[in-house]
Amino acid sequence: MKISPSFLLPILLFHGLNLVAFGAGDDQQFVFSGFSLTNLTLDGTATVTPNGLLELTNGTSQLKGHAFFPAPVSFRRSINGTVQSFSVSFVFAIHTTYPNLSCHGIAFVIAPSNNLSTALAAQYMGLTNIDNNGNASNHMFAAEIDTMQNIEFQDIDNNHVGVDINGLHSLESHSAGYYDKDGIFYGMNLISGHVMQAWVDYDGDVAQINVTITPIEMPKPVRPLVSTTYNLSDVLMEPSFVGFSSATGPINSRHYILGWSFGINKPAPAIDIAKLPKLPRLGPKSQSKAMEILLPLATATFILSVGAAVVFLVRRRRRYAELREDWENEFGPHRFSYKDLLHATDGFSDKHFLGAGGFGRVYKGILPKSKLEVAVKKVSHESRQGMKEFVAEVASIGRIRHRNLVQLLGYCRRKGELLLVYDYMSNGSLDRFLHFQGNKPTLDWAHRFQIIKGVASGLLYLHEKWDKVVIHRDIKASNVLLDNEMNARLGDFGLARLYDHGTNLHTTHMVGTMGYLAPELIHTGKASTLTDAFAFGTFLLEVICGQRPIKEDEHGSQISLVDWVLEHWHNGSLLDTVDPRLHGDYNVEEACLVLKLGLLCSHPCSNARPSMQQVNDYLEQDTTLPELASTLLNFNELALMRNRGFDPYIMPYHPSLVVSFGTISDISGGR
Ligand SMILES: *[C@@H]1O[C@H](CO)[C@@H](O)[C@H](O)[C@H]1NC(C)=O
Ligand SMILES: *[C@@H]1O[C@H](CO)[C@@H](O)[C@H](O)[C@H]1NC(C)=O
Ligand SMILES: *[C@@H]1O[C@H](CO)[C@@H](O)[C@H](O)[C@H]1NC(C)=O
Ligand SMILES: *[C@@H]1O[C@H](CO)[C@@H](O)[C@H](O)[C@H]1NC(C)=O
Ligand SMILES: *[C@@H]1O[C@H](CO)[C@@H](O)[C@H](O)[C@H]1NC(C)=O
Ligand SMILES: *[C@@H]1O[C@H](CO)[C@@H](O)[C@H](O)[C@H]1NC(C)=O
Ligand SMILES: *[C@@H]1O[C@H](CO)[C@@H](O)[C@H](O)[C@H]1NC(C)=O
Ligand SMILES: *[C@@H]1O[C@H](CO)[C@@H](O)[C@H](O)[C@H]1NC(C)=O
Repeated sequence: MKISPSFLLPILLFHGLNLVAFGAGDDQQFVFSGFSLTNLTLDGTATVTPNGLLELTNGTSQLKGHAFFPAPVSFRRSINGTVQSFSVSFVFAIHTTYPNLSCHGIAFVIAPSNNLSTALAAQYMGLTNIDNNGNASNHMFAAEIDTMQNIEFQDIDNNHVGVDINGLHSLESHSAGYYDKDGIFYGMNLISGHVMQAWVDYDGDVAQINVTITPIEMPKPVRPLVSTTYNLSDVLMEPSFVGFSSATGPINSRHYILGWSFGINKPAPAIDIAKLPKLPRLGPKSQSKAMEILLPLATATFILSVGAAVVFLVRRRRRYAELREDWENEFGPHRFSYKDLLHATDGFSDKHFLGAGGFGRVYKGILPKSKLEVAVKKVSHESRQGMKEFVAEVASIGRIRHRNLVQLLGYCRRKGELLLVYDYMSNGSLDRFLHFQGNKPTLDWAHRFQIIKGVASGLLYLHEKWDKVVIHRDIKASNVLLDNEMNARLGDFGLARLYDHGTNLHTTHMVGTMGYLAPELIHTGKASTLTDAFAFGTFLLEVICGQRPIKEDEHGSQISLVDWVLEHWHNGSLLDTVDPRLHGDYNVEEACLVLKLGLLCSHPCSNARPSMQQVNDYLEQDTTLPELASTLLNFNELALMRNRGFDPYIMPYHPSLVVSFGTISDISGGR
């Protein structure tokens, strides 16, 4: 009978990870890296421990144990053929109760039956008995790892490896150890408790038997420890069982097999050392086995799981932690849970990052319940000062609804951090359309004019139409967002207030963006609807000219966009400033209107600027724009003055800046 693949398949599945492969027909092989879930045929004291260790003897004296591969193995190609080459490898360890005493040993055995019930323990190692030891009718081959010197079997010492045929009188044996590649012998102590590996190789062509042992994790030495010749064709029955036998004598020991592999006509497959089960700790074995193994295991498991639970809860708590105080209850509907925002943005992952504004990073998110697309702005805020007022303001801002304002949906507060949730604007910010780098088509005139009217209408609402006056403080192209229909929506309004609360004038960081800052704002730091109008004027020019508010002139020096347009107006070439990317495809009347309105709004004297109501009227052409000449006379002089070196605009351009008041005070003197 041979191991047919159909027989082996269930075993293969059952063995799962431990079993690498079975060859078919003549090239049978298997490997067990640990014995969990294996179906070995066990008897006597042999057991497989829960962690997959094959324990042949269990520390009780005068007992034997066997473990056989469940199926018989064919060693010949045909019933009258010769025994083919085979190769065995196994990993073993011997644990002793007393430091330097052991009984008896382990043997790899090939026998006609897996029923060795008549064999004796102790020096017979569970292989034979007084009557049949050495009898050719045993048809038995064994490689013994013997830790006792038995005079009756002419053992050479109490620490040897031998080749046995039909009995325990070894055909050939050698003291335990290995030869290195230079042929130098290193002794090994079999009862050291260390894990060791053994190989048994038979060459059927020359009937040579080699046995080799090494400490674990050393490669197989080239030179075997024991090498002898014996024609196993004259010994083995067909088929035979392969397995291990072990026995204790008057002194008890534990004999372990950790891994095992076997191959016919090919080397034994490598045992996966990393997967091998752990040996029990060496030491006094006074406690019961259950206590010895289960108690530490249970304790460790308990501590680990409690620890893991605590870590999980703490991390979860920290991860989702928010700040919430009683006074916030009135803003309840505007409050988002941090957990929802975290899930909405995949933990604020880079994939969801939309951009960084003056106040913080913005992420796109999809709210878990409503599936609503939102933009979440993370604003860092160290001080708790003014937080209450600010949140109140956020809540009130949340009530502002206008088709040209980005809707604030709510907020969430964490330590040092405020999260603001807005409607998501699918087309992003306007500055990307105005100042794009690539070959994207630019915004056409109709869109630009529509956007300008939209922003003007939104700003009018903030300044004049809502319950309170809301000053935007940071009007610029990057704060104008475009919805899916390319409608302009002004974002970020009211946020600048965050930096005002609880700070005194001298340490205030002025909020705003260079090029959009009205002169009096730089001077006094006091924002008003008129400073918003100034920024709006610059914004108008930016949209029409397609230029940033601080541009480089033909000589490479920085010049404000307002001055540049003003210069063209003086020279009567105002329309030369219109964005060349429009290729002349624009409404001349509207372009003139917007450019002049931009100059008027950017007037250095705040009282010369129109209100947002007037701006809207001009844009709707309900009212005609006053002639610039009269109002700009004064303006012109100021411009000249600036050109003589008193220029607040000619400063390094920063997207969001911190201005110190000292540098600018000269100008106020000059004015
Ligand atoms: C060892 O096995 C034998 C037989 O299976 C059993 O009687 C004995 O109690 C076991 N000893 C230990 C220490 O488990
Ligand atoms: C284990 O092997 C025995 C005999 O070889 C067989 O009867 C039994 O069904 C096998 N069990 C499993 C789970 O494979
Ligand atoms: C093979 O062995 C059987 C008995 O096991 C014997 O009857 C037969 O003659 C043998 N055949 C050869 C070719 O030796
Ligand atoms: C075993 O070792 C102990 C010391 O550890 C020693 O006293 C004793 O004689 C040794 N016994 C044998 C049999 O070597
Ligand atoms: C093993 O063989 C003995 C007789 O030699 C027999 O009594 C016993 O039932 C057998 N055990 C098994 C498991 O077959
Ligand atoms: C060997 O065993 C066989 C059968 O078990 C028996 O007939 C024979 O007498 C034994 N030979 C010796 C020398 O004991
Ligand atoms: C046994 O070892 C010798 C070297 O001593 C080597 O030449 C031979 O191939 C080995 N045989 C087997 C079956 O490993
Ligand atoms: C082993 O013995 C068989 C007969 O039993 C014989 O055919 C074969 O040639 C022998 N092998 C060697 C290597 O001597």
